[in-house]
Amino acid sequence: MMKPITLYSNSREETETLATRFAQTLRGGEIVFLRGPIGAGKTVFVKGVARALGLKSSPTSASFSLMKAYRSKKHCLFHIDLFRLEANEVFNLGFEEMLEDEHAIILAEWPDPISQMLPQDRLEMDFILKQVDRREIVCTAHGPVSAARLEELCQTIPA
Ligand SMILES: Nc1ncnc2c1ncn2[C@@H]1O[C@H](COP(=O)(O)OP(=O)(O)OP(=O)(O)O)[C@@H](O)[C@H]1O
Ligand SMILES: [Mg+2]
Repeated sequence: MMKPITLYSNSREETETLATRFAQTLRGGEIVFLRGPIGAGKTVFVKGVARALGLKSSPTSASFSLMKAYRSKKHCLFHIDLFRLEANEVFNLGFEEMLEDEHAIILAEWPDPISQMLPQDRLEMDFILKQVDRREIVCTAHGPVSAARLEELCQTIPA
């Protein structure tokens, strides 16, 4: 596990800008776990990434509200939100296709129920509520791929 890096956002727009910068680092095969309380900005970040990649949400099967797939010719991004789900409830929900696609970009809110099913190399982003619009985002890479993306992201952030 690498040393955590703290990023700062003072508004929804800044989080969207951060998401746009992060999107530029993605090549496929990345896994991001987004943590933090309700209203912290996790979904704002995920939607920002999808928008920056020019992706449109495409309907997925059964577990529609738990997993949204965004596809283009170049990318396939899965947005997962497992709020209030237990590990024994994630079977047969349609995650198999996603888990088999090693080029998928997986962004997961409340990821604990599927944490064990995913590779260890993941970027953890912990959203901490500071003030009304202020957030700290503590980023920890858990492997070489996520470390490389995080480093690339940090290089794009003005000092
Ligand atoms: N710095 C900020 N970054 C992101 N969102 C912010 C920020 N400041 C205020 N907001 C607001 O906070 C809310 C974040 O909502 P969002 O749905 O992204 O939360 P979430 O972390 O996904 O929560 P949940 O766990 O319920 O899914 C939005 O209404 C957004 O406008
Ligand atoms: Mg959310």
